[in-house]
Amino acid sequence: MELARVVFLLMLVISCSYSDASPKQKHQLRNKKRVREPCKRLVFYFHDIIYNGYNAKNATSAIVGTPAWGNRTILAGQNHFGDVVVFDDPITLDNNLHSPPVGRAQGFYIYDKKEIFTAWLGFSFVFNSTHHKGSINFAGADPLMNKTRDISVIGGTGDFFMTRGVATLSTDAFEGEVYFRLRVDVNLFECW
Ligand SMILES: *[C@@H]1O[C@H](CO)[C@@H](O)[C@H](O)[C@H]1NC(C)=O
Ligand SMILES: *[C@@H]1O[C@H](CO)[C@@H](O)[C@H](O)[C@H]1NC(C)=O
Ligand SMILES: *[C@@H]1O[C@H](CO)[C@@H](O)[C@H](O)[C@H]1NC(C)=O
Ligand SMILES: *[C@@H]1O[C@H](CO)[C@@H](O)[C@H](O)[C@H]1NC(C)=O
Repeated sequence: MELARVVFLLMLVISCSYSDASPKQKHQLRNKKRVREPCKRLVFYFHDIIYNGYNAKNATSAIVGTPAWGNRTILAGQNHFGDVVVFDDPITLDNNLHSPPVGRAQGFYIYDKKEIFTAWLGFSFVFNSTHHKGSINFAGADPLMNKTRDISVIGGTGDFFMTRGVATLSTDAFEGEVYFRLRVDVNLFECW
């Protein structure tokens, strides 16, 4: 009789502690983990060849706006502050400029600080290949001197319908002020 009551009380205590804290915490942990795990990871490279006065045929980007002290042939002084560049760059799956492109990176960047090299990026990856169809849209601050920079994946269409996530950029190569190659690690946290 006594033993049965002790067992009953013990079970009550255990069940109470479970219903109080533990399941809630477990639920929160589960939620956090689900939110932080990407539903899709993709890696791309894109190649930007800036017009320099001599490479009109080869160039994939052009300075379209510049401050009064600059011109549209050479990026302006003071860390290119005020320059606006429009690009239509090939996207490849590896870091070779001459690999068959799987799409185009299309958009613009704005150099937006005099004191350091930093830019603001707004662009889309436009795919029309056997690998992918549709687009992924990106926007965000790009502090170029940082080894890696995170920008937002703000949406998508086609294969990437309604997607969102974060893309980690790194400068994979750099040749003067004419060519650079960005590696883009796309981590999507919303997939449909
Ligand atoms: C185009 O520009 C890139 C980067 O500067 C260079 O590597 C490549 O050889 C150029 N191609 C031609 C055909 O000039
Ligand atoms: C553009 O600016 C650069 C640097 O100041 C200068 O060397 C170049 O001659 C200018 N080009 C034109 C077309 O004005
Ligand atoms: C995508 O590629 C196909 C086949 O090459 C072509 O018929 C279609 O017009 C392209 N679509 C776009 C939006 O470029
Ligand atoms: C710059 O890089 C560091 C580490 O490499 C990272 O922690 C930080 O978030 C980056 N800053 C931006 C603005 O991306």
